[in-house]
Amino acid sequence: MKFSALSIAALATAATTVSANFTLSEPWSTSVWTSGGNASVAWTSVDEAGKKCEIHLLTGNATAATFVSNLTAHGNLVPCDFTRANLHPLPDYISGDYFVRFGENGGDTANYAYSGYFKYVGNGTASYETLTATPAPAAVAAPAADAPAAAASVVQAAVAQPASI
Ligand SMILES: *[C@@H]1O[C@H](CO)[C@@H](O)[C@H](O)[C@H]1NC(C)=O
Ligand SMILES: *[C@@H]1O[C@H](CO)[C@@H](O)[C@H](O)[C@H]1NC(C)=O
Ligand SMILES: *[C@@H]1O[C@H](CO)[C@@H](O)[C@H](O)[C@H]1NC(C)=O
Ligand SMILES: *[C@@H]1O[C@H](CO)[C@@H](O)[C@H](O)[C@H]1NC(C)=O
Ligand SMILES: *[C@@H]1O[C@H](CO)[C@@H](O)[C@H](O)[C@H]1NC(C)=O
Repeated sequence: MKFSALSIAALATAATTVSANFTLSEPWSTSVWTSGGNASVAWTSVDEAGKKCEIHLLTGNATAATFVSNLTAHGNLVPCDFTRANLHPLPDYISGDYFVRFGENGGDTANYAYSGYFKYVGNGTASYETLTATPAPAAVAAPAADAPAAAASVVQAAVAQPASI
């Protein structure tokens, strides 16, 4: 599934892209996500109380990224004003350079925050997901209608702690 988003181009020059609403602090460029293991996504937000957020895993050239997985699928949306989501177990995607983006459920991906590249270690027995619900901002071309991939592994997004205690 290829799509291009001008906002992702910033990845080429910045370790982490900050949106007006969100700042991603994890994964770092030194993070390693291993198939079957655990991972964390951490962020801070501004004025996002009461909203639900999505986390997406992507790979490939930042100017023509490939959508890998909606890590908050199956109702696992996270409250935007929380600060961390723990993902377990990680699907077995093929080893490579990946990145995540974080933003409001159904929101314009131009307003998402993007991480820099980090390493993913796996053998590739899991297929990349078919993007089913594209927020479809003008800058993002509609994904090609590929044949459905094998069902993505369920990744539980458990929120650890609210931002304000
Ligand atoms: C957060 O994003 C929304 C659009 O989804 C925007 O209207 C709002 O102004 C943003 N908030 C801040 C503090 O930038
Ligand atoms: C991974 O997360 C699961 C579920 O939260 C937990 O039971 C397990 O102990 C964690 N494993 C590691 C190595 O942190
Ligand atoms: C990414 O794609 C752009 C545009 O096609 C190209 O100029 C650039 O060299 C590519 N970068 C990599 C690392 O492949
Ligand atoms: C991700 O999953 C949530 C449901 O948990 C859904 O609302 C959202 O549209 C999905 N996002 C994408 C890009 O498929
Ligand atoms: C990949 O496959 C090899 C050989 O079967 C195995 O030893 C290794 O643990 C697998 N790695 C992952 C990340 O699943």
